[in-house]
Amino acid sequence: MVYLTRVEHFNAAHKLYNPRWSPEQNEAVFGKCANANWHGHNYELYVTFKGEPDPDTGFLYDVKKLSELIRIHVIEHLDHRNLNMDVPFMKDKMCSTENLAIAIWNQLEGQLPAGVQLHCIKLYETPRIYVEYFGR
Ligand code: NI
Repeated sequence: MVYLTRVEHFNAAHKLYNPRWSPEQNEAVFGKCANANWHGHNYELYVTFKGEPDPDTGFLYDVKKLSELIRIHVIEHLDHRNLNMDVPFMKDKMCSTENLAIAIWNQLEGQLPAGVQLHCIKLYETPRIYVEYFGR
């Protein structure tokens, strides 16, 4: 089994605000991230696939096609968007990096060619904080 990682990038706005809580409780838990007028992040996304190399090419799969899958099913939905308002697959979820990583996994999981599996979604919200999701 080999693991292949494609690195992608997107920027997006969001806020962390739980509508079931009071403004004070949101402020206490989320601090500046609850700012009503949004804030942005430069997200770095590492998508790791796994499988066996093809005996004819030596490749797990054509990386251009994998990159295209990520672009179509993830990046085009997220890049330069407001995650809370513009992204159907984040609707009614808290827009944390944790939930975003899980949603990205779910966006890609059903789209992969035969012989290629998802191994990990690693998502940096800042250079110093990232989330990893392995599918469960
Ligand atoms: Ni934030």
